[in-house]
Amino acid sequence: MKIFRITATVLPVGAIIVFHLLAPSEAAANEGEAAFKARCGSCHGARDIRSWGRQRADAAARQAWFDQFLRRHYPPPGAEHAVIIDYIESTITAGPR
Ligand code: HEC
Repeated sequence: MKIFRITATVLPVGAIIVFHLLAPSEAAANEGEAAFKARCGSCHGARDIRSWGRQRADAAARQAWFDQFLRRHYPPPGAEHAVIIDYIESTITAGPR
């Protein structure tokens, strides 16, 4: 029966999508941290991130600056651009650790 084969294919995919929708911000945070470490970590660490936060206190201006700056400074490809900025921002707003 064709319907069973379709169900067998669609169910796991659906389960994965639901998992991603539910499980989440932690997975996203880890993804950001991993991307930052891979692309920026050889030169920058938490201390740098905090100093970038001090340089620009206004969150909106700071994000706009990261957005522009990272287009020419070791530009992260595709979706990693936003993922890395989100990670940097969450580290700054989490405050000193
Ligand atoms: C090969 C080394 C290297 C890599 C990789 C690298 N950077 Fe940098 N970055 C530097 C150097 C050197 C500077 C200039 C000195 C400083 O401000 O620390 C800098 C400066 C910066 C600054 C501050 C600029 C300013 O005007 O104050 C930011 C923000 C930054 N990098 C973000 C990143 C991010 C995000 C990544 C990953 C996508 C990254 N960098 C990857 C070496 C690197």
